[in-house]
Amino acid sequence: MSNKHLKWEEIITMLEKLIKNSYSPYSGIKVAAILVSCKGSRYIGVNVENASYGLTECAERVAVFNMVANGEKCIESIFIASNTTKPLPPCGACRQVIREFAKLDTIVTSISLTTKEVAQWKLEDLLPYSFTKQYITRREHSSE
Ligand code: THU
Repeated sequence: MSNKHLKWEEIITMLEKLIKNSYSPYSGIKVAAILVSCKGSRYIGVNVENASYGLTECAERVAVFNMVANGEKCIESIFIASNTTKPLPPCGACRQVIREFAKLDTIVTSISLTTKEVAQWKLEDLLPYSFTKQYITRREHSSE
């Protein structure tokens, strides 16, 4: 398995290293994400939990925000890794945030680093009837 910019083995090696940075003392669920931008850059994220549980940030959203902070706004593909026995599907909030910068046919890949089981979904299947900026008409304050 490979994609335009990254070899599968390379992705796994990067995810295995990255997941060690997950800050998840409360759930024990470690998650890492690598996002490949449309320009071929890679952006990383890990889940960051908080003693005030609701402030926890998911790995995927950290990777997306990292991309935007670096001046890019287009997701080519996204890879998620977790220490769970099943590949972790992205949560609803992450699906919506990914959708902001990705097309409906963008592939989301998830791997369990415990069992090596892999799952792949099209973003459209994860988030059908998605709400996007095309539904927003009042955009006077937008720079886009
Ligand atoms: N988590 C992610 O990082 N991504 C998801 O899409 C689902 C959940 C994290 C958040 C929390 O730290 C832990 O997994 C358990 O919910």
